[in-house]
Amino acid sequence: MRRSARVTVTALSVLCLLAGEAAAKVYLHETFDDDSWEQRWVLAKWKEGEGLAGKFELSHGKFFNDEKADMGLKTTQDAKFYTASTSFDGLSNKDKTLVLQFQVKNEQNIECGGSYLKFGPKIDDPKEFKGETQYSVMFGPDMCGSATRKTHLIFNYKGKNLDRKKDIEVKNDNLSHLYTLVLRPNNTYEVQIDQKTVADGSLYDDWNFLPPKQIKDPSQSKPKDWVDAKEIDDPEDKKPESWVEEKQIPDPNASKPDDWDEEEDGEWTPPMIDNPDYKGEWKAKRIPNPDYKGEWVHPMIDNPDYFDDPAVYAYSDISMVGIDLWQVKAGTIFDNIVVCDSEEEAKAVADKYFVPLRDAEKKLKEEEDKKKAEEEEARRKEEEAKEKEEDDEEEDEEDEDEEAPEEDEGGAEHDEL
Ligand SMILES: *[C@@H]1O[C@H](CO)[C@@H](O)[C@H](O)[C@H]1NC(C)=O
Ligand SMILES: *[C@@H]1O[C@H](CO)[C@@H](O)[C@H](O)[C@H]1NC(C)=O
Ligand SMILES: *[C@@H]1O[C@H](CO)[C@@H](O)[C@H](O)[C@H]1NC(C)=O
Repeated sequence: MRRSARVTVTALSVLCLLAGEAAAKVYLHETFDDDSWEQRWVLAKWKEGEGLAGKFELSHGKFFNDEKADMGLKTTQDAKFYTASTSFDGLSNKDKTLVLQFQVKNEQNIECGGSYLKFGPKIDDPKEFKGETQYSVMFGPDMCGSATRKTHLIFNYKGKNLDRKKDIEVKNDNLSHLYTLVLRPNNTYEVQIDQKTVADGSLYDDWNFLPPKQIKDPSQSKPKDWVDAKEIDDPEDKKPESWVEEKQIPDPNASKPDDWDEEEDGEWTPPMIDNPDYKGEWKAKRIPNPDYKGEWVHPMIDNPDYFDDPAVYAYSDISMVGIDLWQVKAGTIFDNIVVCDSEEEAKAVADKYFVPLRDAEKKLKEEEDKKKAEEEEARRKEEEAKEKEEDDEEEDEEDEDEEAPEEDEGGAEHDEL
């Protein structure tokens, strides 16, 4: 029975493998190439009434490679909320690899603002999409001052948003960057920035999906008489009689001024000075505590609330991408948002759009930096030349001042002749 079942399973999995390879699928590739994005994306009503809903527009930004392909969705107004979403024929990533990928360019030198995306189940009414709307994965950069500088990777699990235990780095240099999340059916993940791995491992290790297997036994606590002081004051050690504890003393060298008038000035007292013999506070010698019992260790018991889940990576419905941001400094450009079940497909999109854009941006940035440096150098030279000219003029004037009397003298001599 078991055996024949396994044969069937093996045959099935071969079929699945073949089918799986053929069925690599891109569920969403949003390119923001033209105004048609307005039909695909729904702007949420949230914050509209308060006048805090920021406007989006298409832009390829300052540096670009291909005017049309590099068009992206840009946030345009400072100190606004940006809330919009799109839906697509989505997937359950159960038994599948899920890849979420997008480009983002913060060319505004973003000081404070998020530039992450939310991926999740279809929203009943996209106009009602807002900060609290439940999502499955939140992924991407967030920056505010020096305190917040990270790539968020938050998973919603059983209704709770789980932050990664340790922050993931982020890029902040005005250029386009590619953020890729790979979520695998063996409960591992990988985060790439610009096609380089910056974080990877087990979902179980890096997020608290499951409750701890063991907890501290609530029926036990440290006994009142538990001695956990490693050292004590030596009871044999006594403060010496001669120990000087006065920090200040009346100055023995001061004497009452001759013109001191007790009636008018009151009684004379010498000024206080630091005591040269002061030894500081006396402290007894420390010795090991003979009663020391060691650190008290709380006994652990099995957690009655523990459960296992062999598939924390799995979401039943990923069919929505949402932008839900607060930006103090707007100007973020999103492009090439991809949801697919194949790393190869995601890489193909990146190679086609991101790689040439990144290369062009780097080149243009280098040219700009070079031009700036040259202008700076030219300005410096000009200033130097100007300073030198002024110095020369001053020197000339000084020379003239020195020469003039001589000439006069000469003239006078001449006259005398
Ligand atoms: C980003 O651009 C702004 C303005 O163009 C500039 O002041 C800033 O130094 C740039 N930041 C980086 C990291 O290059
Ligand atoms: C998970 O799957 C990936 C891709 O198949 C593989 O490279 C990796 O070694 C697996 N990790 C574990 C812990 O099974
Ligand atoms: C008082 O004056 C003497 C002589 O100048 C000096 O050696 C001594 O240190 C002084 N004492 C104090 C407490 O300043």
